[in-house]
Amino acid sequence: MAGDLKFPGNFLWGTATSPTQVEGHVANEWTDYVASDGNHCRVACNHYHRYAEDVAWMAELGVNAYRMGIEWSRLQAAPFAPLNPTELDRYVDLLDRLKAAGITPMVVLHHFSNPPWITSTGGWLNPATIPAFEDYVTRLVTALKERVWLWNTFNEPDTYASLTYLLGGFPPFHKWRLWSYRKVIRHMAAAHVRASEVIRRAGNSGRTPEIGIAKNWTFFGPLEPHAWWDRLLAAISHRTFNHFVLDAFLSGQRRAASTFLGVNYYGLARFKNFEPMVPAGGARPEQLAELGVVCDDMFERHPGGLGTVLRDFHRRYGLPLYITEHGAASRDENFRIRDLTEHLRELHGAISGGVDVRGFFYWSLLDNFEWQFGYSKKFGLLEVDFSDERLPRKMTRVGEFYREICRTGAAAAALKDSRVSTG
Ligand code: FCB
Repeated sequence: MAGDLKFPGNFLWGTATSPTQVEGHVANEWTDYVASDGNHCRVACNHYHRYAEDVAWMAELGVNAYRMGIEWSRLQAAPFAPLNPTELDRYVDLLDRLKAAGITPMVVLHHFSNPPWITSTGGWLNPATIPAFEDYVTRLVTALKERVWLWNTFNEPDTYASLTYLLGGFPPFHKWRLWSYRKVIRHMAAAHVRASEVIRRAGNSGRTPEIGIAKNWTFFGPLEPHAWWDRLLAAISHRTFNHFVLDAFLSGQRRAASTFLGVNYYGLARFKNFEPMVPAGGARPEQLAELGVVCDDMFERHPGGLGTVLRDFHRRYGLPLYITEHGAASRDENFRIRDLTEHLRELHGAISGGVDVRGFFYWSLLDNFEWQFGYSKKFGLLEVDFSDERLPRKMTRVGEFYREICRTGAAAAALKDSRVSTG
């Protein structure tokens, strides 16, 4: 293994957040939601009032890109209504501060949340949501096209549709409604095509816009290789969660709507007697340790899978790729540093093998509101102390480690540090 993993010079080294998870003061279907740790997202990291400070932190981290969401419910109070000028100005100011700091924005148009008037009319099950979304995107893109060229239409349609209609984890908490799941994906895929047309038509004076979704890629498998029932469940999950979604967005004529494909990669979920053996599925850490499952506070780790999925997407779709999310949740910073190192090695291997990967966005800038789990999952490059109402941010060791990579464009420090921490 080379001592110095050099990455392409124009590579985007970024970090990512989403509005509901960091902004606070948001009125969408999550406002009244109480997470398993008893908390809600009403203040979150108060990024809404503190974005200027958070941009300064990003500059300190040395990232040159930021994947950020824009919250539809803030901007449009009713279908086909004009955008709220005050809220729009706030996002414009954020984008201008990023520009001044030399940070390229990637804007996410939908990240697990909707305006109340969309939710009350059936959300993404209702085909009328497609033209409503198109209208919103038209207005937003017209307003921001001089400032944004990287557009991520949908974040993880797979996770969103499965947690809303199959697994009951996200509002409206339905379970096992396979037809609803499929319908949501199909409607989002249609909306993606329309949004892509809008973005292309609007253009950007500086450079040609880029458009894509962020696909969550999760590997599924049986924990015990001989358990045919778990193998079958893994195969069904793989088909439904991974391939059905990729086909809906990228097969046939719809392929032309995307200029890139984003990959959110966290790892692997293996089943044992139909139960997913991951902390996010409720498995206890002690039980997982006994079974030899290496995981963060969410999923089983599988760094080698990152190389596999990048090579596979490259072969299958031939689109430029971004790692739109990767990170690990743990209070053990050595673990997180090691995890990042292993994934960057895989990423570097894929790029050296000819896969066109253009950027990496670490999830997340801040410890934040992790949906069903509230503030209990620690993903931040910056730690946030939620017990202090001033919500102070503090650089973590993972943040320092990532800063070295962002500044040098090489993961040499990563290798050095991982040798120390793996012991
Ligand atoms: C992804 C989501 C993101 C965050 C991370 C941990 O599935 O897109 O909002 O919850 O997982």
